[in-house]
Amino acid sequence: MLEKASKAPCRTTWRRSGGDGHASSGSPGSAVQGAACQVTVIEGHSEIIIPQLRKKYEVDKLDFVFLDHWKERYAPDTILMEECGLLRKGTILLADNIIFPGAPEFVKYIRNNERFECTTFHSHLEYMKAEDAMEKAIYLG
Ligand SMILES: C[S@@+](CC[C@H](N)C(=O)[O-])C[C@H]1O[C@@H](n2cnc3c(N)ncnc32)[C@H](O)[C@@H]1O
Repeated sequence: MLEKASKAPCRTTWRRSGGDGHASSGSPGSAVQGAACQVTVIEGHSEIIIPQLRKKYEVDKLDFVFLDHWKERYAPDTILMEECGLLRKGTILLADNIIFPGAPEFVKYIRNNERFECTTFHSHLEYMKAEDAMEKAIYLG
């Protein structure tokens, strides 16, 4: 899961979690240009990290959340973020692979929820013909 949290105007924090050693690979910093930006990588399971974000990592609200981890975690992690008060009016959740391999619980939860405004972006799985889609859900508060 990769999320952006901002507290000050030009403080950008990217957090990638997983606990599989992948957090240090890739280059989240390359996506953030400018010396005034700060990149923080937190490695760990979403269900452990999310409840710690506020107190341990001083994250008040999340601006953008990219859901791309185990698909069965999309729904419980979304509920957890809500319960932890991390979503604000306008927070964007972007969930990948909602059709293939699929995140049916998340889709059901988010689309039947008046607190979210949803848009589906249809696509195909990379390098394959398999139908897939991303779901954008804006938290309405
Ligand atoms: C499809 S890959 C993510 C790819 C990543 N978005 C990227 O573009 O490089 C899924 C990753 O989610 C991690 N993962 C699975 N369950 C997780 C959880 N509960 N919390 C955090 N990360 C998790 C896996 O270890 C794996 O590294």
